[in-house]
Amino acid sequence: MKITVIGAGYVGLVTAACFADIGNEVVCVEKVSSKLEKLCRGISPIYEPGLTEMLQRNIKEGRIQFTDKIEEGVEFSDVIFLCVGTPQGEDGKADLSQVEEASRQIAQSMESYKLIIEKSTVPVNTHQWVKKTVRRYIKNSDIPFDVASNPEFLREGSAIYDFMNPDRIVVGVESEKAKKIMEELYKPFTEKGFPLLVTTPQAAELIKHASNSFLAMKISYINMIADLCEKVGADINEVADGMGYDKRIGRAFLNAGIGYGGSCFPKDVQAFIKIAEDHGLDFGLLRETEKINKSRRRKFLDRIEDILWIAKDKNIAVWGLAFKPNTDDIREAPSIDIVGELNKLGANLRLYDPKAVENFKTLFPEGDNISYPSDKYEALKDADALLILTEWDEFKDADLEKIKKLMRLPIVIDGRNIFEPEKMKEMGFEYYSIGRT
Ligand code: UGA
Repeated sequence: MKITVIGAGYVGLVTAACFADIGNEVVCVEKVSSKLEKLCRGISPIYEPGLTEMLQRNIKEGRIQFTDKIEEGVEFSDVIFLCVGTPQGEDGKADLSQVEEASRQIAQSMESYKLIIEKSTVPVNTHQWVKKTVRRYIKNSDIPFDVASNPEFLREGSAIYDFMNPDRIVVGVESEKAKKIMEELYKPFTEKGFPLLVTTPQAAELIKHASNSFLAMKISYINMIADLCEKVGADINEVADGMGYDKRIGRAFLNAGIGYGGSCFPKDVQAFIKIAEDHGLDFGLLRETEKINKSRRRKFLDRIEDILWIAKDKNIAVWGLAFKPNTDDIREAPSIDIVGELNKLGANLRLYDPKAVENFKTLFPEGDNISYPSDKYEALKDADALLILTEWDEFKDADLEKIKKLMRLPIVIDGRNIFEPEKMKEMGFEYYSIGRT
């Protein structure tokens, strides 16, 4: 099929590349010229495992093209995915100006039937506004169109795998024609047994916000249990395992730590609270989820102070700056608050991350108290403490003997529970983690 994708952010770019890779012809519209220039050369502007290779393969085989002209995208195909940004606006509400702008521009260049599909995360009933906007700006009111919602559930760091192996495909449609097109589009997936759920657009929009908020709530819940574990001497991993075997609960997203970050959960939880508020409902459960999450960073800093006493002039190595492993994304990462506070306190910080250093330097440039060693072990030379803020595999596989030898004091404060307390103790580390005494 021919497909147009508007917006080459995380979701748009992965959607475009994956649809091309399964044999569709794709045009992807991106208006930021620096991004477009990279994309045309087959270079992904974001770090996502496998994405650059996939882009290059599909450019070479002629299945994907990039342009900054939305009218070219609209002319190219009847199936148009809206994947533009929906950042956090005033009061935590989603800023939908890019959705409005794209809808208007599509309407102005439409000459024949189009199916406009929201893939960006949007508040419930945004499809009504998209419809209204297209109707208002369309040149010829006889041209038919449909608006559908098809939320995306991929995670950064495993985006291609998630797109290609979805737990479910949600399609919110209002006409038989739109339903048929969506079923045809996702046939390669449903043929492999991936479930496709057809709903109304408003249910599809809600499913996305409700899912992200639920997962965020699960994380805050387990983090509270971790605090209780510390008080009573239980191990949070044992508790999470015991809970997780219950199929109704599940083990995923029960990893305690310094809380969730990223471009989705913090923004989506806030937006969902606002959506409920706009409909006269107080989503106290989510306000608490957010509050617990925010307090994780402060709590971790308090723990550092309890252990090190004075941070000033201490050499502190930090492993992990990205908000999660396998990405260079630092948006809303706990590392920003933790490094920021330790910097204010006058610690000498040696910051290491396998992929996120360049992004982090834009917030914390190299200086007297901040350095970026090129290797994780180099960060440890004469260190008074090692903080672990992201659970990259290369940290889990690190040589513990080497770590101990390099550090001035063998103090490890682990915000992601990547090592075993017993083993660390045996090796002579002073090891602190979350929810494990
Ligand atoms: C999240 C959702 O998982 C995706 O389904 C969704 O499509 C995406 O948001 C989105 O809306 O675009 P993502 O933000 O990429 O994906 O990353 P997650 O793997 O969900 O992790 C989010 C945060 O939660 C990270 O900071 C991670 O460290 C934290 N987390 C996750 C925990 O603290 N504990 C856990 O058990 C799991």
